[in-house]
Amino acid sequence: MVSSKNNTHGVIESLQTEVESFPPPAAFTQAAQYGPEIYQQANADPQEFWAEQARTLHWHTPFTKTLDWTNPPFATWFEDGELNVAYNCLDRHIVAGNGDRVALYWEGEPGDRRTITYTELLSEVKKAANLLISLGIQQGDRVAIYLPMIPEAVIAMLAVARIGAVHSVVFGGFSAESLRARLDDAAAKLVITADGGWRKGRVSPLKPAVDDALDLNPGTELTVEHVLVVRRTENDVRWEEGRDLWWHEEIVEMDAEHTARPFPAENPLFILYTSGTTGKPKGILHTSGGYLTQTSFTHRAVFDLRPETDVYWSTADVGWITGHSYVVYGPLANGATQVMYEGTPETPTWGRWWEIIERYGVTTFYTAPTAIRSFMKVGREVTQQNDLSSIRLLGSVGEAINPEAWLWYREVIGAGSAPIVDTWWQTETGAIMVSPLPGITATKPGSAQVPIPGISIDVVDDEARPVPNGSGGLLAITQPWPSMLRGIWGDPERFQETYWDKFGDKYFAGDGARRDEDGDIWLMGRVDDVMNVSGHRLSTTEIESSLVSHHSVAEAAVVGAADETTGQAVVAFVILKSHQTVMTDADQAAVILKAHVGAQIGAIARPRQIFVVNELPKTRSGKIIRRLLQDVAEGREVGDTTTLADTMVMQSISQKVR
Ligand code: WT7
Repeated sequence: MVSSKNNTHGVIESLQTEVESFPPPAAFTQAAQYGPEIYQQANADPQEFWAEQARTLHWHTPFTKTLDWTNPPFATWFEDGELNVAYNCLDRHIVAGNGDRVALYWEGEPGDRRTITYTELLSEVKKAANLLISLGIQQGDRVAIYLPMIPEAVIAMLAVARIGAVHSVVFGGFSAESLRARLDDAAAKLVITADGGWRKGRVSPLKPAVDDALDLNPGTELTVEHVLVVRRTENDVRWEEGRDLWWHEEIVEMDAEHTARPFPAENPLFILYTSGTTGKPKGILHTSGGYLTQTSFTHRAVFDLRPETDVYWSTADVGWITGHSYVVYGPLANGATQVMYEGTPETPTWGRWWEIIERYGVTTFYTAPTAIRSFMKVGREVTQQNDLSSIRLLGSVGEAINPEAWLWYREVIGAGSAPIVDTWWQTETGAIMVSPLPGITATKPGSAQVPIPGISIDVVDDEARPVPNGSGGLLAITQPWPSMLRGIWGDPERFQETYWDKFGDKYFAGDGARRDEDGDIWLMGRVDDVMNVSGHRLSTTEIESSLVSHHSVAEAAVVGAADETTGQAVVAFVILKSHQTVMTDADQAAVILKAHVGAQIGAIARPRQIFVVNELPKTRSGKIIRRLLQDVAEGREVGDTTTLADTMVMQSISQKVR
């Protein structure tokens, strides 16, 4: 078995003795869409391989060039080709006679249901596209989408794509302030939101957050002209005449005809913000042809997709990259039938997901390790209330899956036989990069194992030299790939610095990795100041900035501490200002500051614990040594303190925490 432990500072300890591996069931391999020859094909000529995959899409104007890498790190793929992303996700399936196929089996948290065929989805998207045009949205304009997991989220994204505009989806759990920062950075003209969404039996008020965001005065000019509001929860909302419009009132006025026109392959498709090592989130930019090529190919190959018979379900929210690539673009480009669910797994009971799997006969299920661990805690009895025998393939994403969770997932959800694909990728990579192929790879619990066909990945040392099998290093992507980010919105220098300066000509992913004796890749966690909480990326610096922006806080340090369920949890250490009188004791300070971070960034960033301390461990040059704080937060003996300016500091902190 494998036991591995890592922390966010690149200290990787891994102990590997004997790893069990699980070959795919013979019947699975026999029926699989792809066999081992796909790797040979891809290796023989990776660019031609991707061109072949791209040709499975509908091009209004076929491309003649594949990759242009003459101006690294700025790549173009299929540059002289023209396509329409929404046409590829909708119209062409109808043209092919599959219009009656179900695109979405949707369930709201309160139990309401909608079944939407491809023909119906297309008709909604056409009306929405006409609505966007009527609001003056043109090619290249940015449209923010701040919606719950309802069909309108998919419709809105595809409508924006259909007219060549650019969407920026903001997860509904982000606060008004975070939303405003994203609206301003992208200079969005329109916000599409809902009155609210259902979450854990309550209304999460979205329109009020949009109102607050637009009321703020962060010193930047407001670019938003209209707010389009889907009615979902019927909570009271403030109404700004002229600016605010009800989706349902507008959409009925719209023509259900709209002809998709072609856009260049490199037309921007979306911006999605993600946390980096600084306080400011990065607007990751993705374009059209290459992105759709790799998301659709990986969705076919990694999930062994059979569009006629599979019922696929990814539990991801469209506010994250998994929702973009593996709820919207990959599955719809492939004409898949999928489940979409609005709420959380525990509402009204922990049985909810398993009832859904039984109801729709889900065959392919894609979720995150944190969810699997939550169900392990709840106990397998809950999952055994339903018939899960339709499941033939399981996927995992968001963080490395610990072997215990992997084995539980396979045994309890996958009836001891369903292959598990552990998929490594990032917002920046746009699509899956490292993953077993389910009919081919003998899987190992805890390892993402091999680059997908056509992708070049290596584990390298600090000087970009490949490490031998059996050793650790950093994950690098050594060749450009079709769905790679095309940059950081408005900040080409940061793009260069963050991903390319470290190795020169290779992409630095920010993840530690090791190769085992077979050459398989094991991901070991972030090596930068980025935490992974429930598969979501959070920046230590961003939360520290939020804490010190509170008028009572003098200094703050944040670490990601190991957490049984969420992988990591946010733990903060703060020094209060000596003259502050707002907070009279540490408990009260913790309550106030948790709420402060929640309001500033969003509930997902709220620290699990906040400790009030008198000092922080620093080097003589004044740099905070987070490693020592992490020891305290994880209840370990404090490590080497010799670099501390004041060696007594850790004793005082440990006392406070106890
Ligand atoms: C970071 C990217 C990819 C969609 C969800 C997260 C970690 C993601 C795995 C995995 C080990 C993983 C990495 C990566 N990560 N999947 N299968 N094994 N680590 O997207 O928010 O852009 O975060 O998530 O650390 O760099 P993201």
